[in-house]
Amino acid sequence: MPYADEPFSLVIFGASGDLTHRKLMPALWSLYAARTLPEPFAIIGTARSEMSDEAYRTRARESVTRFARLKIPSQHVWDRFAGSLYYVPGDPTSPELYGRLKQRLEQIETARGGPRNRLFYCATPPSLYDDIVANLGAAGLARVEGGWTRIIVEKPFGRDLESARALNRQITGVFAEEQVYRIDHYLGKETVQNILVFRFANGIFEPVWNRNHVAEVQITVAETIGVEGRGSYYEESGALRDMVQNHMLQLLCLIAMEPPVTFDAGPVRDEKNKVMHAIRPIDPAKVDEVALRAQYGPGYVDGRPVPGYRQEKGVKPDSTTETFAALRLEIDSWRWAGVPFYLRTGKRLAKRVSEIAIRFRRTPHMIFRRDPAGVEPNLLAIRIQPDEGISLTVVAKEPGPDLKLAPVTLDFKYGEVFGAEPPEAYERLLLDAIHGDATLYARGDWVEQAWALLEPVLEAWSRTPAALPTYEAGSWGPPEADAFIARDGGAWRQP
Ligand SMILES: NC(=O)c1ccc[n+]([C@@H]2O[C@H](COP(=O)([O-])OP(=O)(O)OC[C@H]3O[C@@H](n4cnc5c(N)ncnc54)[C@H](OP(=O)(O)O)[C@@H]3O)[C@@H](O)[C@H]2O)c1
Repeated sequence: MPYADEPFSLVIFGASGDLTHRKLMPALWSLYAARTLPEPFAIIGTARSEMSDEAYRTRARESVTRFARLKIPSQHVWDRFAGSLYYVPGDPTSPELYGRLKQRLEQIETARGGPRNRLFYCATPPSLYDDIVANLGAAGLARVEGGWTRIIVEKPFGRDLESARALNRQITGVFAEEQVYRIDHYLGKETVQNILVFRFANGIFEPVWNRNHVAEVQITVAETIGVEGRGSYYEESGALRDMVQNHMLQLLCLIAMEPPVTFDAGPVRDEKNKVMHAIRPIDPAKVDEVALRAQYGPGYVDGRPVPGYRQEKGVKPDSTTETFAALRLEIDSWRWAGVPFYLRTGKRLAKRVSEIAIRFRRTPHMIFRRDPAGVEPNLLAIRIQPDEGISLTVVAKEPGPDLKLAPVTLDFKYGEVFGAEPPEAYERLLLDAIHGDATLYARGDWVEQAWALLEPVLEAWSRTPAALPTYEAGSWGPPEADAFIARDGGAWRQP
């Protein structure tokens, strides 16, 4: 069903920052250039840096030219977009700023008429979210007569269960849960959304999508980059907080969830929550059996020498922050009992790849006795990035007089089939928030469940900071990671 094209205003806190520069402004432009952004609209950036509207527009053009999916076709089209950009300088911790923001919003809304729809975006360091929310509430900006008000909150959402609960309490003390959009940009990726389409729009997978046919699931999010100048941010985070608590557990939920009754925010998020409730809690006394961490040392990536984590800018020389994390989770449900879910993520690994690999059980009996070797179980790989697509490995007969078996891969590549470059995750997510669709956003209770699950790991790791293996940059992680999965008789896939 097409959405109504209603006017709206977006206020970005942290509008002079990296996220706005590299992601938000380019996404807003691409939505506009693709004629999908509802009109009329206004984008009001705010941050402490002093800037005029004009200077902000110039800066926006730099972001768009450098990072946007769609190019600027002409000065005229840019001018029309840029005419809807404004900048209000101010300190987000000061109530005075909110009076000026309100005034600017009201001026714009009165001039254009129509509903007073407002979206606030917290793109500042997370330590400021509390202040922004409280100030919006105090200034009477959390609700408005004659329109909707919503708020998008960037990751990280808390740094443990207690802080996530406190942030949820703070936000829902001012906004209703339906107004709150907790972003997880992984959920905006086309291939991640395709997991649900693949599972629930095809009849052939559901019958085998369970413990009777699936032997194990491996979820890998591997990066070749290091901390890229964000060392001080990463020091406070680490791989478990940065990747596992949000993106990887979301991926696990999409793979493991039951079919929702409809593709709407309520049913989809209810089913994801049920998965979180069914994941077996981690025994604090046995964390080492299910969780492993490591930190990269110096090494080579793409033939270039790269420094170790402790030599990166902003990182303490004796840092014990993990840059690699692996988990073995089990889901205690009828569908998944006994199927291990392995999660693995790291920086400075051998290859940049995010994928979910589902390994099926072997055939119950092998009739091709002369060539039992080389008969690998079927494997379904969902590649999230790069080279987005889905492949299924099956066994086939090699041509020739002998009955020789060989694995072959049926490969669907998004780019080859659909051609056009898919929209960026932030485009989809911004548009969903503008349209009031929270299906691809994280709900407060899910976020708390995810932190609760990882709490024993975070606690155990903070108690024993020294027990941290290292791995060579450019490798697939520490040798301990191989031993970790070999205990179950398995091995990590090398995608
Ligand atoms: N960058 C990314 O790729 C990325 C990806 C995912 C999530 N995020 C999340 O998005 C948020 C913003 O990230 P970012 O990389 O854009 O951060 P950033 O560049 O460090 O800062 C964002 C903005 O916050 C303002 N700010 C910084 N410190 C402040 C303070 N003490 N008081 C008031 N304002 C302050 C800065 O503007 P002024 O100094 O002008 O006030 C800046 O515009 C963070 O929560 C981050 O975790 C970022």
